[in-house]
Amino acid sequence: MTDLRTIASNLLDKTVKETDLGGQKHAGKVRDSYLLGDQRLIVVSDRISAFDHILGTIPLKGQLLNQAAAYWLEKTQDIAPNHLIKVVDPAAMLVKNCIPLKAEFVMRGYLAGTTETSILRSYEKGLRNFCGHRLPDGLSAHGKLPKNIMTPTTKGDMGKHDVNMSKEEILASGVVSKQHFEAAEEMAYNLFAFGQKHAAEKGLILVDTKYEFGVCEGQVMLIDEIHTPDSSRYWYQDDYATRMAAGKRPRSLDKEYVRRWMVDNHGFRGDGTPPLLDAEVRVEAALRYIENYETVTGSTFTPNTEDPAARLKKNLEGYLK
Ligand SMILES: Nc1ncnc2c1ncn2[C@@H]1O[C@H](COP(=O)(O)OP(=O)(O)OP(=O)(O)O)[C@@H](O)[C@H]1O
Ligand SMILES: [Mg+2]
Repeated sequence: MTDLRTIASNLLDKTVKETDLGGQKHAGKVRDSYLLGDQRLIVVSDRISAFDHILGTIPLKGQLLNQAAAYWLEKTQDIAPNHLIKVVDPAAMLVKNCIPLKAEFVMRGYLAGTTETSILRSYEKGLRNFCGHRLPDGLSAHGKLPKNIMTPTTKGDMGKHDVNMSKEEILASGVVSKQHFEAAEEMAYNLFAFGQKHAAEKGLILVDTKYEFGVCEGQVMLIDEIHTPDSSRYWYQDDYATRMAAGKRPRSLDKEYVRRWMVDNHGFRGDGTPPLLDAEVRVEAALRYIENYETVTGSTFTPNTEDPAARLKKNLEGYLK
């Protein structure tokens, strides 16, 4: 059995940067989706985005994210209805086409973040109100918040940054109805509590995450992805307390690895042209996505080593006819 590092290295020049399967395509930062009447085919590319820039590709990422999302969607269907119909390729799923709510529902359990607009930087600058939530003095960087909070953002169009808002501001702007917002808000709190509990059983802390909801058949449901290492922060539980006591940052198991590489090696925090990811960071990132998948699901990841572009075409052409 070839080891995963070698498999990921061998796939470095076979990653899926973009797809062109015909039909009506919508390209997000990471997902390409194809409208099929009242359904939608979501293909998870290998693209990685951070600081709102697409940085390049990570081998196996599409498969890992698609399978991670499918895992969590199945586990949480009793907490929130969701869009999943069927997984149709290691990196693609068929879903119900929904009208996305024009807000993103960010859930936070800790004072964390890297960007200037993060709750951590905002708190460090002395602000004690974040998205309408009052924060007490005396919280530590990377420490637990007094309780989980939902801090919504606008849903920025491609190339635009999402803007932090309070619930009241979102409702006043009229982009989402109160009824839809509150249905999504309740599901977000419940999904996050479930995710935290499940992660804790696996030795991880689910620090924060972002959900998207949409309306379909008159019902608000969870769409897009859930609890993936792209949409969430995960920290290792075992050395969290000792690292905090020593004034060290928690160890993460998510996309933070790539963000840190950009900050530490290139001083890049989102402004200007992002540096190119080298082969080593791309493989290391793949190994971290794999570790997250295996830890969270408790099962071994089986990488698909076919050429992903050819495989997607073969598995999906029947849907796109
Ligand atoms: N079931 C669905 N029905 C309609 N649109 C969906 C559905 N699921 C996901 N989408 C949309 O498909 C797109 C997926 O793209 P992607 O995940 O790459 O996100 P993005 O919006 O570009 O950025 P990010 O998720 O990082 O904020 C999103 O615009 C999302 O709202
Ligand atoms: Mg998305």
